[in-house]
Amino acid sequence: MSRFLSDRLLSLTPYTPGEQPQDFNYVKLNTNESPFEPSPEVIKALNSDEVSLLRLYSDPECKKTVKAVADYYGVESKNVVLGNGSDEILSFIFEAFCDKDTPVAFPDISYGFYEVFASLYGIKAHVIPLKEDYSLCADDYCGINETIVIANPNAPTGMAISLADIEKIASTNPDNVVVIDEAYVDFGGESAVELTKKHDNLIVVQTFSKSRQLAGARLGFAVANEALITDLNTVRFSTNPYNINRLTLLAGEAAIKDTAYFEKTRALIIENRAYTVSELEKRNFTVLDSKTNFVFASHKTIGGEELYKGLKANGVLVRFFNKQRLDKYLRITIGTREQMDALLAALDKII
Ligand SMILES: Cc1ncc(COP(=O)(O)O)c(C=O)c1O
Repeated sequence: MSRFLSDRLLSLTPYTPGEQPQDFNYVKLNTNESPFEPSPEVIKALNSDEVSLLRLYSDPECKKTVKAVADYYGVESKNVVLGNGSDEILSFIFEAFCDKDTPVAFPDISYGFYEVFASLYGIKAHVIPLKEDYSLCADDYCGINETIVIANPNAPTGMAISLADIEKIASTNPDNVVVIDEAYVDFGGESAVELTKKHDNLIVVQTFSKSRQLAGARLGFAVANEALITDLNTVRFSTNPYNINRLTLLAGEAAIKDTAYFEKTRALIIENRAYTVSELEKRNFTVLDSKTNFVFASHKTIGGEELYKGLKANGVLVRFFNKQRLDKYLRITIGTREQMDALLAALDKII
């Protein structure tokens, strides 16, 4: 660190992203990307005409892509804002709706970025433990008068809560913002988008990184009532009004319109997940009930770190969290059937 870093950031521990090896062809099951290419419509849309337009700034209102997202979810354009990945949307949310008098509450086991944003913006974090079985108790969040952020389904557990629980949390905290991070909802969860029409304190955040094959394009969005979206746009226009580049805007619009490809690829992931779970269980793994494109699994006798290292040595990359309550587990992204067979073959060698 330099001697110039502001006091506010002295104790900040940045987020550690999963490994992104650029030099070795791993079976890559560590960062919950899609194993499939983007939709053929996306590849068609990214043509040389648009590349030559890169000399011009992108549309700061992201009109066409915002409309495509709004149409898909049956809301209006004024209810949608786009971010450079949903990480950026989450950053805007922490900045807009928390401060020193408004703490943020989230589960002890969840997406690691929540803690980082709280620290970055100097917000008090109220960390609420999940139950022993990794389920979330909605009552813990009722009437707490804090900004609330919940990943549903959760990461890295893969487990989901019901829409009834979300409604209970939103309606018992009417003067605070409740954020539902639905990065993985397309693989078996229930989206709370409809509830944003009824609850003016509810924000749903989603991403194109997992179920729409665009992790590298960086595109996420929030759906909420108009006033909350206006606030998020205030932060966006005060940070980077051209936060979505031209190619990503086109890619996102084409991806969300290609519903057939979306349905086909998510069905394949759900099918490969069922196969992986049953094969892991045959090999003495316990697997939490996943509604996502990954599974969280622990072996009866071999620890998470040993398995992670053994798999890496055999060319398979998965995610291991060296943290209490998590260190028995591996988080394994669901890929193609061939990738899952490669994982199972590597596990058979190790076990
Ligand atoms: C729960 C959750 N939320 C948000 C994100 C961020 O996704 P992105 O910034 O790629 O949209 C991730 C990424 O892994 C995630 O796991």
